[in-house]
Amino acid sequence: MRLPLVAGNWKMNLDLPKARELVANIRADLPAGPIELAVCPPSIYLFPMAKAIADTDLRLGAQDLYHEPNGAFTGEISANMVRETNATYAIIGHSERRHVIGHHEDDRMINLKVRAAQQAELVPILCVGETLAERQAEQTLDVLTYQLGAGLIGCELAGSALVIAYEPVWAIGTGQVATPEQAQEAHAHIRRELARLNGQAAAVRILYGGSVKPDNAREIMAQSDVDGGLVGGASLKADSFLAIARETLAAKSQ
Ligand code: 13P
Repeated sequence: MRLPLVAGNWKMNLDLPKARELVANIRADLPAGPIELAVCPPSIYLFPMAKAIADTDLRLGAQDLYHEPNGAFTGEISANMVRETNATYAIIGHSERRHVIGHHEDDRMINLKVRAAQQAELVPILCVGETLAERQAEQTLDVLTYQLGAGLIGCELAGSALVIAYEPVWAIGTGQVATPEQAQEAHAHIRRELARLNGQAAAVRILYGGSVKPDNAREIMAQSDVDGGLVGGASLKADSFLAIARETLAAKSQ
């Protein structure tokens, strides 16, 4: 039995007062039931958010980290520094880091980051997903196979040590959500690949990300290999984040 996880990736949004308000509104109305909720603020807000959720079941995650333990890496933060904030999770290899931001992370660097996160006893949320061109060229499953194989070299594959997020690049921030069938096909493929890599495939949670909203969450979360969501825009308001959590609970208790 996989405990569903709904994680909010705030990206570079909100300011400190708004972040505090959002967390206060989330913690005031946490759903009762077998589900885990996490917030992933910008790294500079990890400590204050850790304090704001300290006495709740809400989990904390970073949006990235650097793979080296220390040294001359101006502007970066290490896995241990993230761990010091009491974070549980670290998003690694998000599509915006692969495709949008400055140096465009490759699978080798992403692999080093997944390993560094695990060494610091953080649970990496490894993001994988195809671009629109790759989907149109029918390369989706090959891309997922490659990104998993490369991203997970030398990593711990136990269900307690790893979360995967399937985020089709064309669905992120576009309002164009994957169909439940497209999500299930990709998630089932990811689970098969994890099994092939000798993972505890049945125990690893695989989240869907890309334009998840309260009104489309239930049918996506109802798919058998979808174990929750990595939510961007809709995680910035307590109402929509909590509504997605409730839809997930409802879908999984059917
Ligand atoms: P949106 O929910 O805004 O499409 O973002 C998804 C995402 O990138 C989560 O990591």
